[in-house]
This record gives sequence, structure tokens and C-alpha cells, in this order.
Amino acid sequence: MDEYYVPWIKPLKMYISNHIELAWKKPSLHRMMSNENPIPPSAKVLKTIEKYSKIANRYPDQGLVIRGKLAKMNGLSGPENVVIGNGSSEIFDMIYRVFLREGDEVIQQTPCFGIYKLRCDLYGGKVISIPMEYIDKKMVYDPEGIIKAVTNKTKAIVIANPNNPTGNFMDEKEFVRIAELGIPFIIDEAYIEYAGLKKSLSRLIKKFKNVIVTRTMSKAYGLAGLRFGYLLADEEVVSKISATLLPWNVGTITMWAALTALVDQKGLAQRVKFNNDQAAFIEKEMSKISGMVVFPTRANYVLFDAGATGKKSADVLAYAQKKGIILRGEKAKHGSDGWFRVTIGTREENKLFVKVMKEFFGRK
Ligand SMILES: Cc1ncc(COP(=O)(O)O)c(C=O)c1O
Repeated sequence: MDEYYVPWIKPLKMYISNHIELAWKKPSLHRMMSNENPIPPSAKVLKTIEKYSKIANRYPDQGLVIRGKLAKMNGLSGPENVVIGNGSSEIFDMIYRVFLREGDEVIQQTPCFGIYKLRCDLYGGKVISIPMEYIDKKMVYDPEGIIKAVTNKTKAIVIANPNNPTGNFMDEKEFVRIAELGIPFIIDEAYIEYAGLKKSLSRLIKKFKNVIVTRTMSKAYGLAGLRFGYLLADEEVVSKISATLLPWNVGTITMWAALTALVDQKGLAQRVKFNNDQAAFIEKEMSKISGMVVFPTRANYVLFDAGATGKKSADVLAYAQKKGIILRGEKAKHGSDGWFRVTIGTREENKLFVKVMKEFFGRK
């Protein structure tokens, strides 16, 4: 069979998220590693799921109602500005599919969400990574580096705002500079609701045809298991990306449940407030650990650099897991191998996390 596979598929393997697999195998562990929402879906969402499950024998439509709602919420004309997908992970795939050929380049900044590269590899593309700078205990975007990395093979630039795992925003004027290049520019706003839609850059879509904003309902809306993501873009770009759609890629239950959650802005506000209060608690308590660098977050996770404490991230993770908590490690960088990330959990989980961390870092 070997000669039949396209060359760039050969080295690739199925993407398996080991920490998520572990969490499903051992449900007693606290899932503080995948930026999920600790609050289960509302009664309204559950009711919608039940209602639409009764007509699960029918195919869904193209999602005109929810696409119209999303357009309206974001100041765009209508469904013709929105593409919906099976999580925003599928959305990146759709975007790459229309722009990438073998050997083409996608620019990202690192650290960032791993799917940008994984989906690019699948099309024979090459990811160019521009590392964030580490200045005064802050992780800083490098827009200059991104602009300098552009070549005639660059077919997309992708930046998360706020970024995962650093939790911070890049200035709007830097987004404008990059948008002005005219290259397809994906702004990933997976976590935007935690800071509010006023921070969204979807307004750039009207000015720049090349700007594509991606979103997900997996985070602040808390529907990760339902798999609903979307993109907002110019009508012409949407029509091209829509041409790649797998028919009925978003199921009936998912799209109506997502709509119910979108309409319930009070429910969203409660989730956001809970998250932001708990993130502040974790940041404050973790700052008490001597030598710990805490990166203030605008999302539902907090990044730490424990390098100056003399402890390694692998040991932090192993200790936390022994105490029942799954955390997320980060590659060594900037001379430190003490990087790790926690996802905001329930009140009890966050207290437990802080307690376990103080225990671990207090040990000689
Ligand atoms: C920055 C960022 N973008 C997108 C996603 C994808 O979310 P989903 O595929 O669940 O919509 C994630 C998930 O962790 C993320 O961190």
C-alpha cells in the first residue's frame, strides 16, 4: 500500500489526546487540563437536546437560524457571513482546505493550540512558528517576527486572541498591521467570551476580506462534548469555504442546543463571572509561591513558569496526578523546564489545586 499514500500523510498518526483518554478511563481524576468548562449544560440546553433527539431520524438543515443569530450578535449581515462546524477544530481544517497546497506555509506564534499545525501537516503544508518573547515575566506576541516570516509561500497566518496557553491579548493595531498584508488571516477567538465580545476583532471583517474569525462553544458556553464551532468572515470567503463542507457536518441536536446556549446570555454571564473570579483566586494564591511566575489570564486557564523554584513541570504534573488532578505540561523554553497550565475547575477543585501546589512547592 505504501506507494499509494500521499507522501505527507505517511509520517502522520491519529491525534490522540492522552490526558483526555486518561480522564475518561479514570473519572475520579479532576480534569484540570483541557480548558473545558466545569459547569454542566443548563436545564434549557438539556431540554432542547431532548426535544431534538426525538427527531433524530431526520437530517439537519444548513443551520440558517443559528448562523443568522451568530451574524447578528457580531454585527454582520446574515448567515452568508457564517460557517458552522464540528468544533472549531473542524473549522481550521475547512479553512486550510481552501488555501493550502503541498509546500505552502502557515505562520503561527508559539506556544499555541496544537491543531493549527496538525491540520496543516495533513495538507502537506509547513508551519512556521514564531516564538513569543519572554520579557519582564510576561509572554509577549511578536508581530514584527510574524510579518518578517512572510514569504511568497505563506497562505495563512493564525493567531489566537487571547492566546492559549499564555492567556493574553495582542494589541488591535498589530492585528491591523498583519491584516493589511492581505494574506488569509485567522484570528482564533476561542476564549473571547471570558473578556466579552467588545474585545472581539470581528469588526475587522468588514474592512479586510482576508480576516477570518473563528470561535467555539466548547469554552465559555461549556458545550465541548457537543462539538460546535464557527467562523465569521466576508460573504465571498464564506461561500468558498462552504463549498468544502461535508454535508450535514453539524447535527440537529448540536445546532439547536448551541442556539439555546447562545440565546441564554444570562447563563453565559454567570459562567464567565464564576470563571474570572476563580482565575483571580488561583492567580493570587499561586503568586504566594516564591519564585513562581504566574501569567494573568483572560481565559479559563492559567499558565505558570516554575523554573525559578527549581522544580520541573514533569514533577509538578506527576505529583498533581498522584493527588488526583490532571494538569497540562508545556515544552521547556526560555531556559526553563518548569512550564505548566491549569484549567479553572469547580470551586472545590481550584482549592484542591492550590493546596496541592503549595504542598509540592513547599517541599525541599
Ligand atoms: C485556542 C484554541 N482554539 C480552538 C480550540 C478548539 O476548540 P473546539 O475544537 O473544541 O471548538 C481550542 C481548544 O482547546 C483552543 O485552545
